[in-house]
Amino acid sequence: MTFLDNHVRRAAGDSSDPAAHLNLEFWQAKRVFLTGHTGFKGSWLSLWLQDLGAQLVGYSLPAPTEPNLFAQADVARGMTSICGDILDAAHLHNSIHQHAPEFVFHLAAQSLVRRSYLDPVNTFATNVLGTVHVLEAVRTCPSVRAVVIVTSDKCYENDEKLDPYKESDRLGGFDPYSSSKACAELVTAAYRSSFFSGSNAHIAGIGSARAGNVIGGGDWTEDQLVPDIVRAILARKEVLIRNPHAIRPWQHVMEPLYGYLSLAQKMYHEPEKYSQPWNFGPDESDAVTVSDLLERFSQAWGPDLPWRKDSGTHPHEAGLLKIDCTKAKEELGWHPQWDLSRALETTAQWYKSFLSGDDLRAVTLNQIHSYEKALSTAILSAR
Ligand SMILES: NC(=O)c1ccc[n+]([C@@H]2O[C@H](COP(=O)([O-])OP(=O)(O)OC[C@H]3O[C@@H](n4cnc5c(N)ncnc54)[C@H](O)[C@@H]3O)[C@@H](O)[C@H]2O)c1
Repeated sequence: MTFLDNHVRRAAGDSSDPAAHLNLEFWQAKRVFLTGHTGFKGSWLSLWLQDLGAQLVGYSLPAPTEPNLFAQADVARGMTSICGDILDAAHLHNSIHQHAPEFVFHLAAQSLVRRSYLDPVNTFATNVLGTVHVLEAVRTCPSVRAVVIVTSDKCYENDEKLDPYKESDRLGGFDPYSSSKACAELVTAAYRSSFFSGSNAHIAGIGSARAGNVIGGGDWTEDQLVPDIVRAILARKEVLIRNPHAIRPWQHVMEPLYGYLSLAQKMYHEPEKYSQPWNFGPDESDAVTVSDLLERFSQAWGPDLPWRKDSGTHPHEAGLLKIDCTKAKEELGWHPQWDLSRALETTAQWYKSFLSGDDLRAVTLNQIHSYEKALSTAILSAR
């Protein structure tokens, strides 16, 4: 029994209610295939889907960091975990066909901008050809009803404009990572129109999700702000910041995951209507500079964190990036639940639990349940 009581679950799933958007009970016993389940977002999504009662299969290379949430929260315990390369098309195809999923969430990726400068070939191969392999396997797998391809808000041609990017804006990408995510969007659009719509096609929802930077407990990614802060705290060093004035749309990892589930559920019922790209980002007030975020994290953590600008030379990273999520709000009924302060508080609490040696599976599940509570409260107050 989760924190979310059955009454609220029923309320959240009442399809006659215009405020109803995410019926969490829906996921009970659904067959779900998830790539990238050993990664940061994949681990959170795996735990959430396990908790909701889905029959979950993950396909991924081993966790990309040490330590990692996948091991810390014992994520493999509640799912079938396949160690496989997305570039091994035959292995991926056989794994998808063997498990006959109804849903596919594609998260596996080389996910780092800075690493993409060092290894562009692997970045393009993993992120573009990997997406081709997923869609190719799905198109001959009739059980699949909905696919969510996870790309990024970095898929837009970034001209550092003040207006947030809409789904209809031009795709682009300065660096190999951003470009590879724009390419993954193009691949998704081509597969959608060529193989998943029209007569004689395998009708399935093929949506893509463009989310911004996420934060949350259990992120140990290299060169990411919150993990860098935590590593500096652990090493009792000052935090080095590359771009203190860069503005990013920060959000807790649960927010886009809730977006992915909402989108998948909508596509399950009305695949052609919802098979589109979708932005998932925070409200505009939560797009703040890196130095603001650092200061606010330090308030949530406790004593002030010493930091200074890293004066070394660094490859280009976008200075300004905001996305417009009106479409997801109006058409999917998706809304961010936790503002930045709550996201930072929850994240700081997770790392404090880590330092205290707590059971991190229980801690992560408790945070998932708190998020579900916020979701149900919002749904009930909208009635
Ligand atoms: N974390 C963010 O802030 C953020 C923001 C926008 C978009 N995204 C996107 O969300 C998705 C998940 O991000 P994340 O932060 O969890 O990334 P992550 O780096 O923590 O995890 C990546 C996952 O992909 C797997 N993987 C990498 N190469 C693979 C390959 N060749 N074959 C099979 N598996 C492979 C890894 O093992 C891991 O499970 C990615 O597509 C990423 O680009 C992340």
